[in-house]
Amino acid sequence: MKDLFGKALLDFQNGNYSEDIITSTNISDEDALPLPYLFREFKDMPKLEQHALKLCKGHVLDVGCGSGSHTIYLQEKGFKIKALDISKGAIEVAKKRGVLHAKVLNILDERETFDTILLLMNGTGIFQELTQVSKYLSHLKSLLKRNGQILIDSSDIKYMYEDEDGGYWMDMNAGYYGELDYFLSYKGAKETPMKWLYLDFETLKLACETVGLKCELVMDGDHFDYLARLIVK
Ligand SMILES: C[S@@+](CC[C@H](N)C(=O)[O-])C[C@H]1O[C@@H](n2cnc3c(N)ncnc32)[C@H](O)[C@@H]1O
Repeated sequence: MKDLFGKALLDFQNGNYSEDIITSTNISDEDALPLPYLFREFKDMPKLEQHALKLCKGHVLDVGCGSGSHTIYLQEKGFKIKALDISKGAIEVAKKRGVLHAKVLNILDERETFDTILLLMNGTGIFQELTQVSKYLSHLKSLLKRNGQILIDSSDIKYMYEDEDGGYWMDMNAGYYGELDYFLSYKGAKETPMKWLYLDFETLKLACETVGLKCELVMDGDHFDYLARLIVK
């Protein structure tokens, strides 16, 4: 990984904002990911994220924290919170923004336990592929304190396969339709292609059942997205 995501965050943090990140997937064209969005304040967050932050309790873990926007809000509210990300640049930025406990770490290597685990901005993305969902969910479950909760958002991206006549063009013999190849570029450099997973609520719920987690729908968003709360059965 070249950490272009982290480089972009660092540029923005250091006052060198001139270009946005460009993303695309195997089923969609290039799109700009505006850097200011990755530094959003509470008032500019989608309602799903705002609601997730309101539901936080106890010691919190922000998984894939990016620049630390959610962590900063909770820290200011007095929460004890740890932020982790695999991007070195992201963690450097989070620390510069004032995040007290920020660490470069893959969630699979985390060992502490928490009352709330947050995974926001398509939190299922880091699972990468459907076959890996149980592994990640089991691990997240092992990091929960008694009565702990996991708050995670995602989207049902079936709409992305809809054609003008209202039919769907997805290949039923291919893998799960929410498994995407994700391409990112920044200032002309290309990141190593990644896998990024969108999970519809029912598929997430089924996967949760296989690892002994109860999955509740907390709320629907404005565009096929949702917030779920997972607790130990
Ligand atoms: C879509 S960004 C979301 C950033 C931030 N949560 C936000 O809402 O602005 C996903 C983040 O997850 C991080 N990430 C991906 N896989 C991870 C993993 N296995 N463990 C920890 N962080 C991961 C990426 O580096 C990236 O910063």
